[in-house]
Order: sequence, then structure tokens, then C-alpha cells
Amino acid sequence: MSILIAGGAGYIGSHMVDSLVNQGKDVVVIDNLSTGHKQAINSLAKFYFGDTRNKEFLRDVFKKENIEAVVHFDAFSLVPESVVKPLKYFDDNLVGIITLLEVMKEYDCEKIVFSSSAATYGIPDKNPIKEDFPLKPINPYGDTKVMMEKIMQWCNKAYGLKWVALRYFNAAGAKEDGSLGEDHRPETHLIPRILQVALEQRDHIDIYGNDYNTPDGTNVRDYVHVLDLVDAHVLALNYLNDGKESRSFNLGSSTGFSVKEIVETARKVTGKKIPAKIAARRGGDPDSLVADSTDARKLLGWKPKYDDVYKIIETAWIWSKKHPNGFDE
Ligand code: UFG
Repeated sequence: MSILIAGGAGYIGSHMVDSLVNQGKDVVVIDNLSTGHKQAINSLAKFYFGDTRNKEFLRDVFKKENIEAVVHFDAFSLVPESVVKPLKYFDDNLVGIITLLEVMKEYDCEKIVFSSSAATYGIPDKNPIKEDFPLKPINPYGDTKVMMEKIMQWCNKAYGLKWVALRYFNAAGAKEDGSLGEDHRPETHLIPRILQVALEQRDHIDIYGNDYNTPDGTNVRDYVHVLDLVDAHVLALNYLNDGKESRSFNLGSSTGFSVKEIVETARKVTGKKIPAKIAARRGGDPDSLVADSTDARKLLGWKPKYDDVYKIIETAWIWSKKHPNGFDE
């Protein structure tokens, strides 16, 4: 029996594939490589190139492979892009999961672990955020994630689909040996952009706004290591195998760090000056987003190992130094 990883060439998906293969599991990857990288897929996994929206492609994979469960990472995930290209996001993210669930049903595959996001909460009334807070996304990306969760909920009611949605806060870091890491094009995320300054690929880092309602005026986020996210997916698969209730879980360290604190920590990690300039707000950024991950800890048994941002940035720095041009080298 194999585990199917949809989007296994992407940042978090590729770390998941690598971890499962190293645990001796049979892993099948599907990816259309629109944002992922073939080089990121562990060579011991079986790779099928294709699009999750293509039913015939999926049927072919399910026919050839004995899939016991799916982990679904495949989605477009750039918030600013989703605001200007909403149809691209609704098409890829929604048509993708609907097609995948249809084919899973045809082949009696009934378990799915799904990448959701803190973007489902929009601007929360308070922090830390619990799973039962209202879902009020403020961009199309977040809306697609809420809809994808709802689609799974209704399939659970209709025919017993077993699902777990993991709402990541800010995924960061890399595999410790620097062989896998984050390579988005364009790169919009804070930590890799800061490290591009440390590598002298950028002159400075723009800090998007210092007049937020936070202690130092810059946005506060909850950074969680990619390998801790991977652990949570493995635990979520076990949770479903144990027949437990389908639901969503927050995944965050439960500690918030401001943009300024992240820049300061990156200076310590890299020993580089990393010039920073205050720039205009980016638009659509909530003041603070910090997870209450009590449920994931209690019910999944999740214990994040990378419990401070220094360690998280350190792993990202090892990756950035080894792969200054991402997977192109
Ligand atoms: N930021 C800067 N300068 C930069 C880049 C980012 O100041 O050059 C700031 C942002 O304004 C934000 C913080 O750094 O306050 C983190 O920004 P990221 O782009 O790294 O991450 P986001 O918090 O915007 O987004 C992440 C995921 C999304 C997800 C969201 C949910 O990338 O997929 O968390 O909170 F939707």
C-alpha cells in the first residue's frame, strides 16, 4: 500500500515525501511542476507528472498504484497573487480537490490529510487563535482553503470520507543537511527574502509597515518548522487510521515574533548586517497571527522539535548557503 502525495515537489510536500521514504514507506508523488521542482522529489518515491484537475491522469495513477491514503499539498498559495488572479486560485485549488476526491471515491480510498492555512481566519478578534474561531478569510487564497475544508466536511457526511485539515501558520526552515528547502519563484516570504539579503542577492529587506497594533509596530507571526509540519501530517495519518473524528487542527509554535525580531535573529544566525528599511504596508496583513495548537498537541500527540526561531532560521540559512539559486544548481 502506498501514500499518495499531491504536490510532492513543493516546499512542504517535498519534505513530507523525503521523511516518509526515510521511514521506509511506499510513496507516490503527483505534481504538475508548475511551482514545484522535480529535483526536490526524493528519488525513492515514484513520480507521476500531471495535473490534479485531470481526472484521466488521476485514474491512471490510482489504477496502477494501491493508494491507501492521500496527503494533499497541491495548491497555489501566494496571497497577493490570489487577490489579482482569483479565478486561477478557484480553478486550481477547488477543481483540484473535487477531482481528487471523485477519483479517491471511485477507488475506495477514504483518507485524506489536507494543507489548510491560518489564512482561513482572516483578521482574528484576538490571539492566540483556536480552531473554533470564525472563518472570515480576507483574500481568495484563504477562501479557497475554507471551501476545500467544507467540501471535505460534506463528503464526510455524504459518504464517510475521513479527513484532517492542518491549518499551518508560517511555515519556515529546511531539512537540516541543507539538501531540501524553500524555492518559490517569485519569493515573497519573509525569511527566505531576508536570507537573500544576507547572500547579497538583495540590497536590503523591506519591512512592510511599522504602525501595526503590535509591541514594536511590525506584524507578528507564528513561525513553525517545515519538519514539525511533516511530523503533524504523519500523526494525522495515524489519527485517521485509528478511526478518530475528522476535523481541522492549527499548527503553530504558539509564540509570535515580529518582523523586526525575525530580522534581528537572522542577523545573529548569519553574522551579516542585513540592512532593513521601513516600507509601506503590503495590504491584507493582519496585525498578529498566533496559533493555539493545544488540540494538535493533545489529540494528535504533536510536539514541535524546533521550538525557537533561531533554530528555524539556522536551518533555512544552511539551505540558502548551499543552494543560493534554489534547485537550479
Ligand atoms: N514581510 C515583510 N517583508 C517582506 C516579506 C514579508 O515585512 O519582504 C512581512 C509580511 O508583511 C508579514 C510577515 O513578514 O507580516 C510574514 O510574511 P510572509 O509573506 O512570509 O507570510 P504571510 O504571513 O503573509 O503568509 C503565510 C503563508 C500564506 C498563509 C499565511 C497565513 O505564506 O500562505 O501565512 O497567515 F496564507
